[in-house]
Amino acid sequence: MAPQQKIWDRFLSPVVRLFINEPELRRYAESVDWEKESEFYRQAEVNIPTYYSSQNFHGIKGGYLNYGAAVSYDPITQYVLLPNETWVRQALVDNIKGQPRRILDLGCGTGSTTLMLKQAFSQAQVIGLDLSPYMLVRAKHKATEANLNITWQQGNAENTVFESNSFDLVTASLLFHETPVNVAQAILEESFRLLQPGGQVLILDGNQNTIRQLEWLNNVFEEPYIRSYAAGSLDASMSKVGFELVNTQDFYLIHQVTSGFKPIPVAEATRIQNIQKYAPNLVDNDLQGLGSPVGVTA
Ligand SMILES: C[S@@+](CC[C@H](N)C(=O)[O-])C[C@H]1O[C@@H](n2cnc3c(N)ncnc32)[C@H](O)[C@@H]1O
Repeated sequence: MAPQQKIWDRFLSPVVRLFINEPELRRYAESVDWEKESEFYRQAEVNIPTYYSSQNFHGIKGGYLNYGAAVSYDPITQYVLLPNETWVRQALVDNIKGQPRRILDLGCGTGSTTLMLKQAFSQAQVIGLDLSPYMLVRAKHKATEANLNITWQQGNAENTVFESNSFDLVTASLLFHETPVNVAQAILEESFRLLQPGGQVLILDGNQNTIRQLEWLNNVFEEPYIRSYAAGSLDASMSKVGFELVNTQDFYLIHQVTSGFKPIPVAEATRIQNIQKYAPNLVDNDLQGLGSPVGVTA
């Protein structure tokens, strides 16, 4: 047994079990036909990358490609995202500029952040994308319970089927620490492609500066790629892709929210600035054809 696995099995897993209502989880798990429901999301053209299928995450064998991951993810995450899961996710929502109309949440998992995005921007079309059809099944159940209309789609965030320039907000929460460096870079490049000029990318994840100093924590949570994530700089990676106004804010020392904007070409920026100056009501009321409502002239 690998050392990390020992720590999970012997220490963390029993502790987590103390706080989790296992009978209730079991009832929920058994009430769902996971294979049938997950079939609905499976896309034949989606290839599962090896970095993803070959690793355990959080002590769960097979990573996210089984229903156990989808059932146990939320009960565990609520204790891991200190000091308060909702505050941490809200930090991402609070950093959104403007009123996005089309939002894509990459690596949406069970949809906890995706639901908050839809609640914050009820008029927006919100899509949650994940590689795991089981996580999407759980996300769909949560959205139905909350009466929120969200599209759930299986896909690889490195290479999606969406058209270029088709979103004005792309988000990812807790995704980047679970991807190798080259995959993280590919996801940023894909986000850049998907955003229309002026659109915003927002990434919520562990604080790279802090995690670098917490080697023991990395062992406990069994995160295969967290060391390389912590050794990097999301600011630098975003700038490399071409994002502008890149900025990272620390949140309770252990989390960070990194934001960047896809630049607007100068001629288009001047056009928007003129409209904002001479016809401000138009900007407020009719944003069609004006580029991203975020309206940042980077
Ligand atoms: C730690 S979970 C985060 C889930 C959710 N965003 C949250 O904040 O709770 C990471 C998620 O990313 C997904 N994932 C990992 N690599 C991915 C990729 N290349 N494309 C799409 N989803 C991916 C996993 O399936 C998993 O659901």
